[in-house]
Amino acid sequence: MENHRLVLPQYLNHYGFLFGGYLLAWVDEMAYLAASSEFPNSKFVTVGMDDVEFKKTVREGSILHFNSQRVGQGNTSVTYAVSVRREEIEIFSTNVTLVQVDDNGVKTPLPR
Ligand SMILES: CC(C)(COP(=O)(O)OP(=O)(O)OC[C@H]1O[C@@H](n2cnc3c(N)ncnc32)[C@H](O)[C@@H]1OP(=O)(O)O)[C@@H](O)C(=O)NCCC(=O)NCCS
Repeated sequence: MENHRLVLPQYLNHYGFLFGGYLLAWVDEMAYLAASSEFPNSKFVTVGMDDVEFKKTVREGSILHFNSQRVGQGNTSVTYAVSVRREEIEIFSTNVTLVQVDDNGVKTPLPR
């Protein structure tokens, strides 16, 4: 799944660069959107995110491009590799794992 986001002033830290916490939230959201698109009748919560390394600073006005690809599926979990690019430069990548839960937040097997 492909998505974009514009880096507006409210997402900057006090040095004028993108605050990393917002990027992590967007990455989490992109994985959730990909999972919800592939499993439209499922509820998901994020259980884990792999290595976090911010490779480049990002300025106001940048357009970030997010790519989410499913790279794994287990009994209750599904994992997406999320890559973030600014123009052609990768600024961030990680794997995000989500677990399907029921209305009580208890893990449940994914549909096959
Ligand atoms: C997600 C949650 C329901 C999992 O319940 P649990 O009983 O602890 O489940 P398990 O430890 O058996 O793991 C469930 C699946 O997640 C996988 N998993 C667990 N921890 C993981 C991690 N750190 N990274 C990747 N996968 C992980 C397990 O391998 C398992 O996969 P499978 O069923 O496909 O084989 C529970 O941990 C939870 O509610 N967490 C809070 C989720 C949340 O609120 N997220 C938002 C951020 S606060």
